[in-house]
Amino acid sequence: MPKVTFPESFTWGCATASYQVEGAWDEDGKGESIWDRFSHTPDKVRDGDTGDIACDHYHRYKDDVALMTELGLDSYRFSISWPRCFPDGKSKLNPPGIDFYSKLIDELLEAGVTPFPTLYHWDLPQALQDGGGWANRDTAKRFEEYAFNVVDKLGDRVKRWLIFNEPWVFTVMGYLNGHHAPGIRDASMAMRTTHIVNLAQGMAARAMRETGNVEELGSAFSMTGAYPASSGEDDRAAAERRFAFNNLWFLETVQNGRYPDAYVGGTDLARLGVEPDDMQLIKAPLDFIGINLYTRSVVAHDPQEPNLGGRDAPVDGVERTEFGWEVYPEALHDVILRIWNDYKLPIYITENGCSYSDAPDERGVVDDQRRISFLQRYIAQVARAIDEGADVRGYYLWSLMDNFEWAFGYSQRFGITHVDFETQERTIKQSGYWYRDVITENGFSY
Ligand code: NOJ
Repeated sequence: MPKVTFPESFTWGCATASYQVEGAWDEDGKGESIWDRFSHTPDKVRDGDTGDIACDHYHRYKDDVALMTELGLDSYRFSISWPRCFPDGKSKLNPPGIDFYSKLIDELLEAGVTPFPTLYHWDLPQALQDGGGWANRDTAKRFEEYAFNVVDKLGDRVKRWLIFNEPWVFTVMGYLNGHHAPGIRDASMAMRTTHIVNLAQGMAARAMRETGNVEELGSAFSMTGAYPASSGEDDRAAAERRFAFNNLWFLETVQNGRYPDAYVGGTDLARLGVEPDDMQLIKAPLDFIGINLYTRSVVAHDPQEPNLGGRDAPVDGVERTEFGWEVYPEALHDVILRIWNDYKLPIYITENGCSYSDAPDERGVVDDQRRISFLQRYIAQVARAIDEGADVRGYYLWSLMDNFEWAFGYSQRFGITHVDFETQERTIKQSGYWYRDVITENGFSY
């Protein structure tokens, strides 16, 4: 039985996001977000599900912190809803909104759980979307103000912050293929949004540091292992371009003030809408890198694809989660080592987990052995990367509890706690008890 151990200072946590768990979508002065608008529009989300109530975490946060204590978490990663704090995205503060996060932070600290907030996990104020959203450079300015104000108000008790969650996903899914809010399909607009989000990240990073409250600053980037379909030079080059676009598009920029080489024939800065001095604004080196990783892609060279010159090669006969993602634990090790070697910054695994729909049996037990097996294999790869020299400081499991899985609504369950969405009853799954023991022992055997 291999034994997997972690450094004593290693942080164990769970992650969630505001729209996915809070509910209370229009309470206490909260403004409408693009996800409220999107989920209230017919045919956008499976089964017409919305985040109107979600896990009702807004009202049940005390019970949920108690749940975290039961699981023995060191830390909790959550996100702050911009329209809850600033209903129209501009400077007028909604005191009850920010107060909710203030109370949550106090409750966490009281329970000995370190708060790890993300400023933006996709719920843009709809009022800003009405002005163009992330396609309007003014949104970067508004985000800079929002970031300053939140850190100014909550930073007396929070030292480690994340700016964005998965900027690649919310720009590509929101503006290129329209699967996510705001549901736009416009390739050239999508390219420009990536640049404006990069600008916003650099501007917010400086503003957050100006408060004097920040000790450690990062973003959580969606990363995927990108492996060539063959050992041929063309496939290898295509996989490299995919790695650059998926994993580095918002990281190489903030660290080094340049776009990575993802495009066949180089990056067209005019197409991105880059203006003079933008790259200096974008460069604002982070203190750590957050990696969200679930699976890998296998990439084949495709000369018909004019941008990245590649496509996903089919991968047959492999193990997949219920979400359809391939289970490929080595990708976590490989990506950590590559990012560590290239950037030499501390790393947090800000998300990793899997969707399986196991429900309580007649004894009330949720026996989700497939999740335990998934977690054992992925977390072992984190330990392997640490043994090989990578400075990985923590692991945040997605998710603390089943929640609203975006366009898939409640049909996908990623939690280590089962949520009955009719009654809001929480039931810790077997994987939750397993994770509690991992935290107690700072490791596991399997
Ligand atoms: C990434 C996102 O950050 C999170 O919101 C989502 O629920 C999980 N992955 C699972 O898809």
